[in-house]
Amino acid sequence: MQTKPIKNGVIAWCAEHAANIDATMFNVDYWQANHAVIGESKGRYTTWFVQTDKRHHQQQWVLRHYWRGGLMAKFSRDAYLYRGLTTTRAYAELALLAQLHQEGFAVPNPIAAKIERFGIWYRADIIIERVANAKDLVAHLAKHLMNNTQWQQLGATIAQFHVRGVYHADLNAKNILFADNKFYLIDFDRGVIKPPQANWQQANLQRLLRSFKKEQAKLPQLQFSEVDFQQLLTGYHTINPINFTGITTN
Ligand SMILES: Nc1ncnc2c1ncn2[C@@H]1O[C@H](COP(=O)(O)OP(=O)(O)O)[C@@H](O)[C@H]1O
Ligand SMILES: [Mg+2]
Repeated sequence: MQTKPIKNGVIAWCAEHAANIDATMFNVDYWQANHAVIGESKGRYTTWFVQTDKRHHQQQWVLRHYWRGGLMAKFSRDAYLYRGLTTTRAYAELALLAQLHQEGFAVPNPIAAKIERFGIWYRADIIIERVANAKDLVAHLAKHLMNNTQWQQLGATIAQFHVRGVYHADLNAKNILFADNKFYLIDFDRGVIKPPQANWQQANLQRLLRSFKKEQAKLPQLQFSEVDFQQLLTGYHTINPINFTGITTN
């Protein structure tokens, strides 16, 4: 991981070709002015997809700003208390992704982060490479079935992260991508590596099950059933043979 100072802050990057990134590139205005915005994902906030030029190997990137959630959002939409660079949301996510990517995990390639300070606060953004041909599982399951082998494969993928101790703070159907018959986990904000333990691993899967059900309630044609989740667990157990006390379905 390398860093360089900018006005009121720092840019951190890990991809070599990202060394010449400047602060404006974290802002969608820059890409809009260059007619390089190629898509967006609207959740509570917008994540932008942009097309880079030759300098950055014509990659497609994902731009995300860190927005506050919960009660704190009333106080400030995007200001976080600064406690040192490595503990900022953006730097921590970039570093975790860089490590996981290097270790061969199914995560997108991280590019760079920007941390801007003002007083005791900071604001932050991250740039990540877009996974080509990817759809998140809500988009995918809205139109396609996944067969048993694929559900097992997804379970095995999640188990690989768990065995390594990778805690994903928000494992849900939209934070899983499917591309070219492979699953990727994304959105590692507040993720950490910690000792593998059945209780958080189980809670993680429980949360994922809840997410599938919630999405299905919103979109009844979503191709998901309890049997699919059983297949996911079967695949999971081939990699992480822990005893769950039972994933409950409510
Ligand atoms: N690296 C990526 N490659 C392809 N699609 C992505 C990538 N990152 C995010 N997306 C898409 O954008 C959506 C929102 O991105 P995400 O990083 O999860 O931010 P948030 O959940 O905060 O909106 C994802 O659910 C996914 O559909
Ligand atoms: Mg997300």
